[in-house]
Amino acid sequence: MQIYIDTASIEDIRAASDMGVLDGVTTNPSLVAKEGVDFHDRLKEICDVVPGPVSAEVVSTESDGMLEEAKPLLEIADNIVIKLPCTVDGLRACKHLSSNGVRVNMTLCFQPLQAMLAAKAGAFLISPFLGRLDDLGQDSMDLIQQIRTIYDNYGYETKVLAASVRHPMHLVECALVGADVATVPFKVIQQMMNHPLTDSGLKKFLDDWAAMNTPSSG
Ligand code: E4P
Repeated sequence: MQIYIDTASIEDIRAASDMGVLDGVTTNPSLVAKEGVDFHDRLKEICDVVPGPVSAEVVSTESDGMLEEAKPLLEIADNIVIKLPCTVDGLRACKHLSSNGVRVNMTLCFQPLQAMLAAKAGAFLISPFLGRLDDLGQDSMDLIQQIRTIYDNYGYETKVLAASVRHPMHLVECALVGADVATVPFKVIQQMMNHPLTDSGLKKFLDDWAAMNTPSSG
């Protein structure tokens, strides 16, 4: 499964990239607003650090505006992926962009038919949101499973990108049901390598080693 980082923080992106397992980046207007930086400048910085797909979201709600916004974003770097909402206008813009060789990430996906239409419109990525569905008491993993089955049944090449990831168990379940990618906050990326038994086991090895190599006072 590919791992993207879900942030616009350049420090977190650098730190995750240094771990050697980062495949791409997703941003959204809320994440960029949190940073208080120029959107295009930040995207350029991100693309200089990460060679994989970097999703940049439009804020227009009509397809013509989405296509206009996409033009300068695509000039930033070759690895920019245009992120569009799962609406009829988003679908129309997706079809236009993907027909012209542009990679599109269809975001805010909450039901499988949105994913089916996004695939038919040529999307490169579909982003079902896990945490936001869980918040409503729905089982978000059902959605991932349904999209996986539909895509496999018809041979759609759109990649399933699990978004709105909140904790490591989301990632375990995504990997088990066959999501292609998960986009993950930096905190959860760090949690992926954590286990208290790893820490206590390592401490015991090092303590035993140090004791063996410490000359006895007697
Ligand atoms: C990523 O593409 C999404 O915008 C992001 O994962 C949404 O996460 P949230 O539900 O935690 O805001």
